[in-house]
Amino acid sequence: MHNAKFIIHNAKFIIRTRDTFFGVWGLSLVETGVAVERAVRAPRPAIMTKGLRKVYAIGAERVIALDCVDLRVPKGQICCLLGTSGSGKSTLLNMLAGLEKPTRGSIVIHGKRVDRLSERQLAIFRQINFGFVFQSYNLLPTLTAVENVALPLAFKGVGKSKREKQAVDILKSVGLGDRLDHKPTQMSGGQQQRVGIARAFVAKPNVVFADEPTGNLDTKTTMEVMERMVSMTKARGKTLLIVTHDMEIAGFADRIVHIRDGNIDGDQALNDK
Ligand SMILES: Nc1ncnc2c1ncn2[C@@H]1O[C@H](COP(=O)(O)OP(=O)(O)OP(=O)(O)O)[C@@H](O)[C@H]1O
Ligand SMILES: [Mg+2]
Repeated sequence: MHNAKFIIHNAKFIIRTRDTFFGVWGLSLVETGVAVERAVRAPRPAIMTKGLRKVYAIGAERVIALDCVDLRVPKGQICCLLGTSGSGKSTLLNMLAGLEKPTRGSIVIHGKRVDRLSERQLAIFRQINFGFVFQSYNLLPTLTAVENVALPLAFKGVGKSKREKQAVDILKSVGLGDRLDHKPTQMSGGQQQRVGIARAFVAKPNVVFADEPTGNLDTKTTMEVMERMVSMTKARGKTLLIVTHDMEIAGFADRIVHIRDGNIDGDQALNDK
């Protein structure tokens, strides 16, 4: 960055000097210098893909799950991938989250080319940077709510008493202070998903991925769960990527990216946010 600034500073100096000799031509160069400077200073996006493609082969048959996806998600955005069943939403989310390798194209997350990482590097990158909320909650059945939520902190090497305190605090913040020692089967679906949300956010990941997070919940609980997820994302200034086919869920986002037949079919900012 320092080097870039130094180069731009000198380039602008030379351009300005030439400007006095070359009039209008020099002016256009000054503008170019300013444009380059802006580009260098622009914050890195949370997620950036170029030409992302995924082809599944089943015997002789090929399924183009994703065709050619260019997507840029700024840091701090709540972005929804909206599309009908089979449009490629989960495929896209799974590739961004490093759960599947693309057939072609690049994925950069917080400056890192995740499609080029080895399995081991990916596992570490995911632990540090990502949180996940699943439709089926994916809580470990033998662990209590506190133990489930403390798990990502254990992977990060946080000591037992510290991680339990953080797990208790975040569970209280999602309204589960009276269910701390309950196991998943001893909780309702909405309560289990709130444990899932607490687990996704407890280690303060940069990006949370949520695939149909309210798919198993009734309408009232869906609204509660979405509100919790949005407020946690905003309070921490992090990025949230939600996959859904439900327009009402999409309404919680800052932006809706429409997915159709493996491509981006529309990109809509929700200005009331
Ligand atoms: N492992 C796989 N092997 C072969 N084809 C697959 C595989 N996973 C997905 N597909 C195909 O890729 C396409 C996109 O699937 P994907 O799961 O991304 O859709 P989706 O938009 O998430 O749908 P839904 O809303 O039903 O979850 C579908 O046609 C699907 O059949
Ligand atoms: Mg899906």
